[in-house]
Amino acid sequence: MTTRPRKGAPGTPAPGKLPLPEVAEMKRRGDRIVMITAYDAPSGRIADAAGVDLILVGDSAAMVVLGHDSTVPATTDEMIILTRAVTRGAQRPLVVADLPFGSYQVSDEQALATAIRFVKEAHADTVKLEGAGPMLSRVRALTGAGIPVMGHIGLTPQTATMLGGFKAQGRSAAKAVQLVEDALALQAAGCFSIVLEAVPSPVAARITEALEIPTIGIGAGADCDGQVLVWHDLLGLYAGRAPRFVKQYAELAPTITAAVEEYASEVRDGTFPEQKHTYAMSEEELAQFELSLAELPV
Ligand code: KIV
Repeated sequence: MTTRPRKGAPGTPAPGKLPLPEVAEMKRRGDRIVMITAYDAPSGRIADAAGVDLILVGDSAAMVVLGHDSTVPATTDEMIILTRAVTRGAQRPLVVADLPFGSYQVSDEQALATAIRFVKEAHADTVKLEGAGPMLSRVRALTGAGIPVMGHIGLTPQTATMLGGFKAQGRSAAKAVQLVEDALALQAAGCFSIVLEAVPSPVAARITEALEIPTIGIGAGADCDGQVLVWHDLLGLYAGRAPRFVKQYAELAPTITAAVEEYASEVRDGTFPEQKHTYAMSEEELAQFELSLAELPV
């Protein structure tokens, strides 16, 4: 019997996987960290081929993949399926699974049970949760069990109603100080990194300076240690209104629409499929087939 883990066994780094301590090393070296969201195997594969460091299977999936108007309805079962698809596609990047709303807020035990599912069933390398305060004990529980945790403060979409909507956070001196305190507390609780969403850039810069662990910004300026964008926003695939911090690197929706329109038109006018898209049959078998048909009531 061998005690060596099998390739890609949950909870053990697969060969070629970016080692988790390397994320902290990147901050120390001043190398910017690249994170992108992904929700299926092909996008995981593309993100890997493009050389990103971290893939977040965000609960933004509720909006960009599942068609909801907020992230709140995402369920653990849905997120597990999406995360497992991404981990099948991506080898080198660390895969961060977003714990959906309601799957960790109740208790440390609930958070642990949910995070364990993401590691065992979906092969996630790490998990992410939103908030500080009462969530600090969740971070301690998960890291104590050996599950690395990414924090997320600033605009936390799961609790956007409490924050007064999807708007920038930390814009007053008092709120900015609170963000610095939350970031330090998340670091002390054991987070390996923190997402800063929709935070004024000078505040994000001071948080980044104050922390030993890396910050990953989204709408938080260039001084964060890394950046994250949502797959569909970056590629121009999301029909909803994009926040001001989104940079669209491609506009794929019109290209895809044109391709599907061309397909529909060729099906309707009979130009697709052509001979080269079909399978042949020998003359002999075809003749036999016709003979056999003659004996059937067709
Ligand atoms: O769910 C998500 O995609 C996120 C990012 C916006 C950080 O949490």
